[in-house]
Amino acid sequence: MIKIAIMGYGVVGSGVYEVLKKNEKSIAKKTGGKTIDVKYILDLRDFPDHENPQLFTKNFDDILNDDEVSIVVEVMGGLKPAYEYSKAALCAGKNVVTSNKELVAEHGTELMAIAKENHVNYLFEASVGGGIPIIRPLNQCLAANEIEEIYGILNGTTNYILTKMITDGADFAGALADAQCLGYAERNPEADVEGYDACRKIAILASLASGKFVNWRNIKTEGITKITRSDVAFAEKYNSVIKLIGFAKISEDGEVFSRVCPMVISKNHQLSDVNDVFNAILVKGDSLGDVMFYGRGAGKLPTASAVVADVIDAAKHIHINKFITWKQVDKDFMADPDAAVFRFFVRAESEAVSKDFDGAELLGSENGEWFFVTKEMTEKAFLDALSGRGAFIRLLD
Ligand code: HSE
Repeated sequence: MIKIAIMGYGVVGSGVYEVLKKNEKSIAKKTGGKTIDVKYILDLRDFPDHENPQLFTKNFDDILNDDEVSIVVEVMGGLKPAYEYSKAALCAGKNVVTSNKELVAEHGTELMAIAKENHVNYLFEASVGGGIPIIRPLNQCLAANEIEEIYGILNGTTNYILTKMITDGADFAGALADAQCLGYAERNPEADVEGYDACRKIAILASLASGKFVNWRNIKTEGITKITRSDVAFAEKYNSVIKLIGFAKISEDGEVFSRVCPMVISKNHQLSDVNDVFNAILVKGDSLGDVMFYGRGAGKLPTASAVVADVIDAAKHIHINKFITWKQVDKDFMADPDAAVFRFFVRAESEAVSKDFDGAELLGSENGEWFFVTKEMTEKAFLDALSGRGAFIRLLD
């Protein structure tokens, strides 16, 4: 029997408990006959109506000092006290499994190194893409490839909001409230709608793919809060939809270009049909070519599914480090974001603005605003020409 502790009994923590109970027998078969037994649940709140109220503790030391506990599931979110608890658990020779992208993006390098020193694992499949397998595929199934490109829809909340705006004509605030009720949004939904959550996720993927720690602070990030219903309507006229995209391109010499921003996507592109809470991640490997990962990117049981898969993996490798890692590199290897080339979808204050862009395609106007699409140009040249006279969204070509 493998004894585990769950730290944090919110949406994901309660989902982990539910999946472990629901699939107890089949999970035991996958660990070679060892049952996974939840010995503690750490949470500051009381859950008197829980079927096993005796499992709850408010004291992390109960878990840390219990040698029987070999796997700790950290689904508390945030950095404090998750960082301190995860580090202490790894130093004590316990495996740690997490869905906490903020912590992985900030302290993953150190926590993976501590796991290695202590012959245990720090596993974080659920930190990117909710229930979609992507960390393990990148680390194992695609290990033969040099990864050239990763891009996709990495945040379920914003994809849900944009879908509701497109299909139901919903307003932003109402769609966000629904996403919160469904348990998709972060405690502070600013992390979703301003793109920080997607930024941390692409930073994790870019780090794994490049083998070098990509600091999320070095990734230019824009959210979806400035997108209007007119933007959505004119994108539709252009046979396109608007999605929040995170991407990372890794050049042959190891330079990384990464960004998170809303993008206008043609309805002919695979990502245009990825709706609601679904995420999709496209990876290009030098041997395999393109591969796409698709599934539910947030929510209780989908995220728990990825966490429990890591628990099973940890149970099968209790004292064997799986060598999931990236290096801290001092040299700057991030590409100049202003040199990037895009086409731009523009909402401008007058028709005259479009005249300053050679070959621009005018789409029409609404409520005194004009919409047009530029030809390919560098971001710097575009911003100089626009000179603050409108809002814009990049095109995914
Ligand atoms: N708030 C996140 C999202 C949860 O909406 O994608 C899953 O990481």
